[in-house]
Amino acid sequence: MAGPQLPHVGAKFYGMFKETVSLARYVFRNEKGTQFVFTGTGTTGMESSVVSLVSHGDRTLTLMTGYFGHRMLMLNQVHGAKADSMEFAPGAAADPDALRKKLRRTKYKIVFITHVDTSSSIINPVPELVDECSKAGVLSVVDSVCAIGGVPLDFDKLGADIVFTASQKALAAAPGAVLVAASPGAIEHMENRKAPIEGYYMNLLRWKPIMDDPRMYLATPATQVLLALREAMLEVKEEGIENRWARHRKLGEMTRSRVEEWGQRFVAEEGHRANTVTSFWVKKENAGEVQSKLEKEHNIMIARGLYDDRDKMLRIGHFGILTPEVLKKALDMAGDVMEGLGAAPSSVKVARPGKKR
Ligand SMILES: Cc1ncc(COP(=O)(O)O)c(C=O)c1O
Repeated sequence: MAGPQLPHVGAKFYGMFKETVSLARYVFRNEKGTQFVFTGTGTTGMESSVVSLVSHGDRTLTLMTGYFGHRMLMLNQVHGAKADSMEFAPGAAADPDALRKKLRRTKYKIVFITHVDTSSSIINPVPELVDECSKAGVLSVVDSVCAIGGVPLDFDKLGADIVFTASQKALAAAPGAVLVAASPGAIEHMENRKAPIEGYYMNLLRWKPIMDDPRMYLATPATQVLLALREAMLEVKEEGIENRWARHRKLGEMTRSRVEEWGQRFVAEEGHRANTVTSFWVKKENAGEVQSKLEKEHNIMIARGLYDDRDKMLRIGHFGILTPEVLKKALDMAGDVMEGLGAAPSSVKVARPGKKR
């Protein structure tokens, strides 16, 4: 990113951009579909899927397992869908059997699924959910912003119509790029819609030719951000995507066992806890104090819950280039800070190997 500014219409950027799209195909395991990479954020992935697929009055269903389901529902409403939602018990993942029954009762056009909801840290059984959609002849869209790069996903095998992510999470690049994979069926749906796509920047069909030649102008790309994404994905390839998933599994296990030692209550039920983020309820409702002490004294950033959960919940992001060694140190410090503030119950010793109490 610190290199010289490259003109987006020049040969050098052209070559690097083409490589970026091909690296994105590697990360998504997308050989069969269309791969998009453009300037935006995860929300651009959400909104461009809705705008490109949904026509006014289409019946859509959003599966809700945390805040990002709510945002997806809101986008469906804003863009004129007859938007239904399906809530699951707090902490529970979306249930494929319940989805099957729902799809039998009501004819939907599109189902929206969050892979890992970053608010609750619930990971949904995406292959089973997508399978129910495919069997019912319904299009499916997967928000994989907090998953791709850290959690197994194989776009070609999955059979979903759109899957998207953003640059800043498990891919460990700078924020500002959105990556979208669309199946041939999704592209066909966009091309054959009766009503034209009501969007310009959010219209994926407009971006399609740009993926073949970024020198064709649609909107000026954030070239440095895209170059940084290319570099980050070269690192993913160097590590190997399967090794990266395995490393994230280890990071997830380490974090969960430490949260258990602290005596905190997980937001997500067992068996549905993601390997990229861990959310838990803090006993003293002093999440803000824990956050600011960790940031000021140790330069470690821990996230709080979103909106109503701001004081009650903490979230540890464990994705990207994080190593188990670095995570261990951060968890040691988080444990000490929480114990000092009484966020960890005093009856539970914040135990860690090598520290005498
Ligand atoms: C699951 C999920 N979806 C969508 C988004 C929105 O992404 P962005 O903030 O990059 O717009 C986020 C952001 O954290 C997310 O975690």
